[in-house]
Amino acid sequence: ACSSAQKNSDFLECLTIQFQSSNSAPDGVIYTPRNASYASLLLAFNQRLAPTPSERPELIITPFHESEIQAAVYCSRKLGMQIRVRSGGHDYEGLSYNSENPFVIVDMRNIRSISIDNDEKSAWVQVGATLGQLYHTLARKSKTLAFTAGVCPPVGVGGHFSGGGYGMMSRKHALASDNIIDAKLINANGQVLDRKSMGEDLFWVIRGGGGTSFGIVLAFKLKLVIVPEIVTVFNVSRTLEQNATQLVHKWQYIADKVDENLLLRLFLRSVRSPIHGNRTIQASFTTLFLGRVHNLLPIMQDSFPELGLVEQDCIEMSWIESTLFFAGLRNESLDVLLIRTPQTGIYFKGKSDYVRQPIPIQGLRGIWRFLNQEDENRAELQFSPYGGVLNTFSESETPFPHRSGNIFMIHYGIVWTRGGSAESERHINWIRRLYSYMGRYVSRSPRAAYFNYRDLDLGRNAGRNTTYEQASVWGFRYFKNNFNRLVRVKSMVDPSNFFRNEQSIPPVSSS
Ligand code: FDA
Repeated sequence: ACSSAQKNSDFLECLTIQFQSSNSAPDGVIYTPRNASYASLLLAFNQRLAPTPSERPELIITPFHESEIQAAVYCSRKLGMQIRVRSGGHDYEGLSYNSENPFVIVDMRNIRSISIDNDEKSAWVQVGATLGQLYHTLARKSKTLAFTAGVCPPVGVGGHFSGGGYGMMSRKHALASDNIIDAKLINANGQVLDRKSMGEDLFWVIRGGGGTSFGIVLAFKLKLVIVPEIVTVFNVSRTLEQNATQLVHKWQYIADKVDENLLLRLFLRSVRSPIHGNRTIQASFTTLFLGRVHNLLPIMQDSFPELGLVEQDCIEMSWIESTLFFAGLRNESLDVLLIRTPQTGIYFKGKSDYVRQPIPIQGLRGIWRFLNQEDENRAELQFSPYGGVLNTFSESETPFPHRSGNIFMIHYGIVWTRGGSAESERHINWIRRLYSYMGRYVSRSPRAAYFNYRDLDLGRNAGRNTTYEQASVWGFRYFKNNFNRLVRVKSMVDPSNFFRNEQSIPPVSSS
C-alpha cells in the first residue's frame, strides 16, 4: 500500500509538471480517491466488474485537450503505471475501468465534439461522444443523413467504432468501423497521428481490431449514409403456442437473404404466458425497413408469409425516431438520446457465436429448455442477421472477419440484480452451460466470436510478456487470420507492449 501511495503521488507530481508546461489546469481533470466526484466517475455499467477498493484506479483523468492525454501517456511510461482508456464504459468485461495492476483511467467523456460536413457527407466525431449524441446531432442537421452503428444510445464511440459496431442498418450499410475514413490517435510515444501519418497498417487495425492495443484514439472521421425520409419499423412477437419454433426455424433461411433494406432482428426470451400462466418462449421480430410500408409488405409476403405481418403491425417514422424505437424509448423527446449515464447497478454477462448452418428444430427446442431454466425475463438471446452488404467485404478488408457465409450472430445475455457470489455463480454457470450446448450448432475451427461482445472466458493474457501462442487462444476467435496482421502491426507500433489489457494484442519480439 505504501509503494502504491508513493507511485500515486509521483504520478500526480509528474502530471502536474507536464500540465504546467502545456498551460493546462489540473482542476476538473485529475481525480484522486479523495475527490468527492471520484466515486461517481467510477460508476460502472456492469456491477459484476465494479472495482473493489483494492482494485480502484490510482487516478481518473478526464482530459479536455490532447496535451493532457499526452501527459498521461508520458507519466505512465515513466512510472510504469498502466493506462485504461474509457470512452462510453460499456466494455462487457470492464476492461476500460478495471485492472489487477496499479493503473489510471483516462476517461474521454469531455472529448466529445462532433462536426458534420453536409456537402461531403462526412463527420468528425470525437471518441467520448455517445451513439445517441451522434444520432441526435445528425438529426438536427438533416432528415436524410445518418450513420450505421449500434442501438444503445449511451454506448461510446471510442470502444464501439474501433471494435466493429453492428446496428439495424448493417445489412445495407455494414458496420460503423467499415465507414471510417480517417482517424486521430495518440501512440505509445505520445505523438498525435492522423491517417496519413499513422500509415495504412495502423489505420487498418483500429477499424475492428480494437483501439486499445495500439493507442488512444481521439476521433474518427465517418462516411455518413443516406436514409429515406420515412422508414418502417415493427416489433411482432409470437409465443410457442403461436408457432414460434417454426417461425424461428424459417427465419434462419431468409434473414440473411432478403432485401438488404430489411433487417429482421430476433429476440428470444422466456416469459409467463398471459393465456395459461405457464412459462413459454417469446420470439420478437424487431425490424427496420429502409422504405415505406407499402414496399415492405410484398417483400414480407414473398419471403416470410408465415409471420402473418399486416399493415397495422407497422409504423412509419423518421430514421431518428426509429433509433428511439429500437432503444425502447418510444414517445420520449429526442433529447433522451443525449443522456450518457449508462444504466448502473445491474450484473451482466454476455457471450457471442456465429451461425453458418440453420439450427434444426430439435436444437431450437434445446435452447428453449435452457431459457426456461433461468428466471423469467433475465436471459435473452439475440439473433442478428448478416448477409447483404456485409458479404461484399473480404475477410481481411478490416480486422472484423465475420463476413460471407455467416447467416447470423448470436448474442447471449444474462442480467441479474443481486450480487451475492452464489447468485452470480448460478447465472454465469447457466450461460456457460448454454454456450457449451450450442457448440454443435455454430461456427467451428475457430468457434468465432464478436470482439465488441468481449468475453474473457475465451482466454486472457498473462501480463506484459504474453506470448503469441497464449493470445492466439482468444485472438483467432475474434479475428480469424487477421490476428496475425494485428500482431505484426502491434510489434511495429508498440513493441514494449505499453498499451495492454487482459485481451490486448501482444507484440512478438524480432530477436
Ligand atoms: P469502453 O469505454 O468500456 O471501451 C471498450 C474498450 O475499448 C476498452 O478496452 C477500452 O479501453 C477501449 N477504448 C475505449 N475508448 C478507446 C479509445 N478512445 N482509444 C482506444 N481504446 C479505447 N455492440 C454492437 O455492435 N451493437 C450494439 O447494438 C451494441 N449494443 C450494446 C448495448 C449495451 C447496453 C452494451 C453494454 C454494449 C453494446 N454493444 C453493442 C457492445 C459495445 O459495442 C462494446 O461494449 C463497446 O466496446 C463499447 O464501447 P464504449 O466506448 O462504450 O466502451
